Amino acid sequence: PRAIWLTRHGESEYNTQERIGGDSGLTHQGDEYAHALGDWVQNHDKHKDNFVVWTSTMKRSIATAQYINNHKVNLQALDEIDAGICDGMTYDEIASAMPEEYAARAANKLRYRYPHGESYVDVIQRLEPVLFEMEREKYPILIVAHQAVIRALYAYFMDIDAEECPYIPIAMHTVYELVPKAYGCNNIYNKSAV
Ligand code: G3H
Repeated sequence: PRAIWLTRHGESEYNTQERIGGDSGLTHQGDEYAHALGDWVQNHDKHKDNFVVWTSTMKRSIATAQYINNHKVNLQALDEIDAGICDGMTYDEIASAMPEEYAARAANKLRYRYPHGESYVDVIQRLEPVLFEMEREKYPILIVAHQAVIRALYAYFMDIDAEECPYIPIAMHTVYELVPKAYGCNNIYNKSAV
């Protein structure tokens, strides 16, 4: 098994407005992270030429990987949780325009499905083929995706309970390194910060 690196996309225009979803581009800060990520891969002596890079199909994810020269694949299965009718809103806007939706999500964040959108359970299910491909991939993988998606992948590899998955803190502008444990179960990984 090889190492896996996970990162959220760099700061997007919607992040600064605290809006969920959408398909906005990177801010200046986000673009700086994209540069830093490109440098990080380039300076990775052991692996730099072997990295395979998987992004979502969203602009902010593709833009975050734009300074990495390695082979890149854009996967729809890595797109952010679909917020349905709430796409593009802030949490405050959702709380005042649709208080019952806001309350339902707060009551059960794992299973709550945005109307015309997805739940975390849906995201976890659509990631199954990605996990299958990850197990098969012989090269190290860098995944540049989104908060909910990274939470689901991280929970799987770190063996964290699904109920906790929607609350896992995943910092922005940070690469998470998952290193397979030498002994033990296949899907238990050690985490080390990069
Ligand atoms: O909607 C996009 C967010 O990255 C997911 O955050 O599930 O904590 O609302 P949330």
